Amino acid sequence: MKTILITGASSGIGKSLAQHYSEHGWHVIAGGRNEQALNELVSQYANVTPLVADLCDEQAVINAAAHLPELDVMLLNAGSCEYVDDPIHFDAALFQRVINTNLMTVAYCLNHWLCKVKQGGQLAFTSSSASFLPLPRAQAYGASKAALSYMAKTLSIDLAPHHIDVSLINPGFVETPLTDKNDFPMPGRISSEDAAKAIYHGLSKRRHTINFPSFFTLVLSMLARLPFSWWRAFAVRNLIRKTS
Ligand SMILES: NC(=O)c1ccc[n+]([C@@H]2O[C@H](COP(=O)([O-])OP(=O)(O)OC[C@H]3O[C@@H](n4cnc5c(N)ncnc54)[C@H](OP(=O)(O)O)[C@@H]3O)[C@@H](O)[C@H]2O)c1
Repeated sequence: MKTILITGASSGIGKSLAQHYSEHGWHVIAGGRNEQALNELVSQYANVTPLVADLCDEQAVINAAAHLPELDVMLLNAGSCEYVDDPIHFDAALFQRVINTNLMTVAYCLNHWLCKVKQGGQLAFTSSSASFLPLPRAQAYGASKAALSYMAKTLSIDLAPHHIDVSLINPGFVETPLTDKNDFPMPGRISSEDAAKAIYHGLSKRRHTINFPSFFTLVLSMLARLPFSWWRAFAVRNLIRKTS
């Protein structure tokens, strides 16, 4: 039986991934802070092991390492999104929270858990298609995901001699508690089950990049190739909230 560790498995994309991998016969180590949600997964699937830890707490990550078996896949998926609503009064505390959750937790997991990934194993990161181009109010979220994408790509190069394949996952909009909070149109939004299938498929093919849904992420990547001044003009006219 192969083993996958999935962080952020108590909810949304990670939960659907845990269910999908479980149904395909994998041993799933399901991470999250919400113990009750993880126990519900365990009661549904015999091959799920809960890993209750706040990944912003490095000591909790260190403690968890002692209980981890050898991993075929480590999928670092936990994350959060907060938007900067008032750019004039920039909220550094918000910025720090998002960077800690989306980036520093990944650094802690790499520091203390990467040694558990076996030779020939895989490492995957859930970034976001938001990292493709500058989106309004995404100063914190977009910066955290752009940095994560860069980190994943550099690790893809540096871990090659260690026989660990790295996959960078860039979802578009997915129906989860994270996007349920959004109050703007979300074109091409797909279910978390469909997101899990796309990720499962991409990881089984050891794809370096897993972008989905394909049409939405293709459009975003084409827009990202435009001169910045064109994108800026479009975004200022159409995407930002008018203050007066
Ligand atoms: N939904 C989308 O449209 C979308 C699009 C692009 C990228 N993404 C990315 O996909 C990933 C999953 O998002 P989602 O939409 O599935 O959101 P979600 O339903 O809110 O799930 C977030 C998961 O991250 C975990 N988490 C957050 N902070 C944590 C911490 N400090 N320690 C441990 N676990 C923590 C949560 O666990 P607990 O609540 O149990 O702590 C939860 O399981 C995120 O990285 C997100 O940025 C989502």
